[in-house]
Amino acid sequence: MTSPQPISLHVNGERVDAYVLPRTNLADFLREHLKLTGTHVGCEHGVCGACTIRLNGEIVRSCLMLAIQAHETQVETIEGLSDSGEISDLQAAFRERNALQCGYCTPAMLITAQDLLARESAPSREQIREHLSGNYCRCTGYQAIVDAVEATATARQGNKGRAP
Ligand code: FES
Ligand code: FES
Repeated sequence: MTSPQPISLHVNGERVDAYVLPRTNLADFLREHLKLTGTHVGCEHGVCGACTIRLNGEIVRSCLMLAIQAHETQVETIEGLSDSGEISDLQAAFRERNALQCGYCTPAMLITAQDLLARESAPSREQIREHLSGNYCRCTGYQAIVDAVEATATARQGNKGRAP
């Protein structure tokens, strides 16, 4: 099977119908076919985490999946999370705490951090480090990233406690 195959999926809430070669990986499909270039590609073999996206609500490495495997799924990329405002506080915390330098790891780092905060509202620094351990950053030394995630968790906890 080497000819383009039809796939249908939802990407950031919008239906996408496309033809893809069976060997095309999901990261390349998002970047090259859909021009969603916030999904970065580093190692292309599942190590660096730069290609992290959400698929049916779970974070996955899009370099390890074929686009054809995403047929009939819900994909969310950094563009979707950013446009919806879901992570605006986390993005602001990253800026304020200098948790990014070149920014190459940042989209995936934000998606992974948001995944943790959705599961654990008050994670310890150890839990934050553990959850982000599959995402490599070659610039920051991680301290500032952990600070930003911790600060976001604390702020969200405070907001929850406030009267509407
Ligand atoms: S590019 Fe996918 S894990 Fe590195
Ligand atoms: S900010 Fe450069 S790789 Fe993380």
